[in-house]
Amino acid sequence: MQRGPVLDGLPAWYLELQLRKFLAGVRGCNPENRSEHLMGSGISLLRTEADFEVAVKLFSEKPPQDHLKTIRGDVGRGRQLFTYCATCHGFDGRGREEVKAPPLTVQEDWYLYDQLVRFKAGLRGGTAADPEGFLMHQAVLGLNTQDFRDVVSYVNDELAGRSSGRNDR
Ligand code: HEC
Repeated sequence: MQRGPVLDGLPAWYLELQLRKFLAGVRGCNPENRSEHLMGSGISLLRTEADFEVAVKLFSEKPPQDHLKTIRGDVGRGRQLFTYCATCHGFDGRGREEVKAPPLTVQEDWYLYDQLVRFKAGLRGGTAADPEGFLMHQAVLGLNTQDFRDVVSYVNDELAGRSSGRNDR
């Protein structure tokens, strides 16, 4: 388990979109979202457009990492809930660039859960300056933490195939 998001194996378009949000201060400037705030200082390491391109290429070309399973929920309920998420993230959870919805099969389960909580609270995606995040904020307003656990368990166990606790793709 790692302490931040997995970057290895994320599509270049999503890495670029998020790094640009950190660069522009759309993400990483709210001290209430502490982990993002840390990243807000980290982004200053990418000084030039060339540094930026190197970082995106480096991570997007790496294979995804192994995972530890830490969230347990009702996979059957999660499968039902996911039909809604699938409209943007795809039925296989591998993301849809057309709507800027990332793959959900790369991140560890605790991170997916944590982001869902932050989206709901508006700590991520709470403002119109972040249109993709705002879409996601609105998408989860009606869901609760049990829903999050269930949907994340489904994504982890069935879509990412990690029910054994390791990434066996
Ligand atoms: C209306 C389209 C839409 C729907 C419905 C939707 N999402 Fe998203 N989701 C997005 C977009 C767009 C982003 C990227 C937000 C950004 O740029 O910060 C996103 C981001 C995420 C992230 C952050 C991933 C990361 O790597 O940081 C998670 C987790 C997530 N969605 C889970 C879900 C789940 C679970 C559901 C169903 C309960 C769902 N989404 C429903 C569009 C949607």
